[in-house]
Amino acid sequence: MTPESPRPAPAVELRGLTKIFGSLKANDNISFDILHGSIHGVVGENGAGKSTVMKMLYGIYKPDAGEILVNGRSRRWNSPEDAINAGIGMVHQHFMLAGPYTALENILLGDEPCAKSTGWLPRALRPVATSGARLKLGGLMRKYGMDIKLDTPVENLPVGTQQRIEILKLLYRNADILILDEPTAVLAPQETMELFANLKKLRDEGKTIIIITHKLKEVMGFTDRVTVLRGGRVAGGRETAQTSADEIACLMVGRKISIETGGEKRNRSTGGSVLDIKNLSLLPRGGQSSRHRLKNISLNVKSGEIVGIAGVEGNGQSELLQAILHPHDKSCVSDGAVAIHASMGLIPEDRHKEGLLLERPLDENFLLGQQHRDIFYNRGFVRYPALRKSTREAMETYDVRPRRIEATAGELSGGNQQKLIIAREMDRIPGLVIAAQPTRGVDIGAIEFIHAELLRARDRGAGILLISSELDEIMNLSDRIIVLYEGEVAGTFTRDGYNEREIGLCMAGHQ
Ligand SMILES: Nc1ncnc2c1ncn2[C@@H]1O[C@H](COP(=O)(O)OP(=O)(O)OP(=O)(O)O)[C@@H](O)[C@H]1O
Ligand SMILES: [Mg+2]
Repeated sequence: MTPESPRPAPAVELRGLTKIFGSLKANDNISFDILHGSIHGVVGENGAGKSTVMKMLYGIYKPDAGEILVNGRSRRWNSPEDAINAGIGMVHQHFMLAGPYTALENILLGDEPCAKSTGWLPRALRPVATSGARLKLGGLMRKYGMDIKLDTPVENLPVGTQQRIEILKLLYRNADILILDEPTAVLAPQETMELFANLKKLRDEGKTIIIITHKLKEVMGFTDRVTVLRGGRVAGGRETAQTSADEIACLMVGRKISIETGGEKRNRSTGGSVLDIKNLSLLPRGGQSSRHRLKNISLNVKSGEIVGIAGVEGNGQSELLQAILHPHDKSCVSDGAVAIHASMGLIPEDRHKEGLLLERPLDENFLLGQQHRDIFYNRGFVRYPALRKSTREAMETYDVRPRRIEATAGELSGGNQQKLIIAREMDRIPGLVIAAQPTRGVDIGAIEFIHAELLRARDRGAGILLISSELDEIMNLSDRIIVLYEGEVAGTFTRDGYNEREIGLCMAGHQ
């Protein structure tokens, strides 16, 4: 290349993109460039407009104004198919795999290679020829150190693996520009490291990566440039090497904030047991490995304490949660006993499946699980005025945005959906709180708020079982930590004996 040769056009140029939903400007005149062969972070508070702008780049939403250029060419998509054909791929905030289908079927879905030799049959009726696809996928998996069983239904695979399948799918389709919307929210620390190692590899091969994340550690550690959105607008863009986590946090919220959520050490008295689990076991699924899914677990949570369950995801946390929710169901508890001695609030693992009715308005979502409280219920009828009032107040307290109770839960951004659930569950003042991944996908301001809320609940006497794959979160909040490994209690730590390295080793099965 001669020194005079012009710089190549950016991989993506967004020019004045605007998207309006009803009366809400989700994106307002957004302009920024994404350079070729770079890892570009997109950050911002919940509801700032990150997913929306990327959905425009990927052809899911049509811009109301503005222009998208890819490799210097102005483009207009009618659907994601157009974007895919132009080399753009996206892994969504909530995965879009079809559960009962195998990894291979999901990867090929919509793009099935057909057998060539069946001459006269129309394309749609020809059998799917998978051998070529298997070969290509085998090569990709070796290159990126992925080990995925292509013939297993994806619903039986852990989330970390499901995400690898989504990424493999993009690579299989030769995507050059990869968009990942909060990819690490569901990953264990080790899996996050692997993901970023692969993203670096992809970048070094010339691919362009756009990553939305709430974790400033990831922004600072792995991106080349970062764009900050606030209230639907660009609040700033930086070269990562020339900024700091504090500056980014400040751009995100528009004021200076502290990004450390310090846990305080306290010695307080605890009360009686609110949750008692004795010798809990769950046999392996028929036909699967012979390992117990839960083996002889005993633990209790007292009023006034937070007990943290640490562990790499997939080591029995979900099963433990199901056992607490369905103690009499033989498919959740095959041996042992679960006893709950207080009213329960639940922050579920999967907010879409277990926490919300996405098609229904916010006040009805707020009613879920508390239909029979006297303030909301009168001889078979819902007291709507009281319900709306409580919903409005809780949305105010928990800062659920936008404050429109007639909006459906599905219209809220991911983090605001989580805040709505927490508002509802805490509003009934439970004696036992089961909090599974309570801060997954919420912004740093909201994390601080949710942590304070859990501590406040504990201080007024609730017992809290905190299940989280964020070790920092567990160590900051818990009065006691129990580590699960392969369905068993692998270790118990008390606050004065916390040691990140030891707990980490225990989580990995070394004691
Ligand atoms: N389909 C939709 N209909 C109505 N409003 C929507 C829709 N999608 C998004 N919004 C609104 O647009 C705004 C931006 O949402 P978006 O999902 O882009 O936020 P985000 O930055 O990705 O937030 P999070 O970090 O919580 O995922 C939010 O106020 C959201 O409620
Ligand atoms: Mg989002």
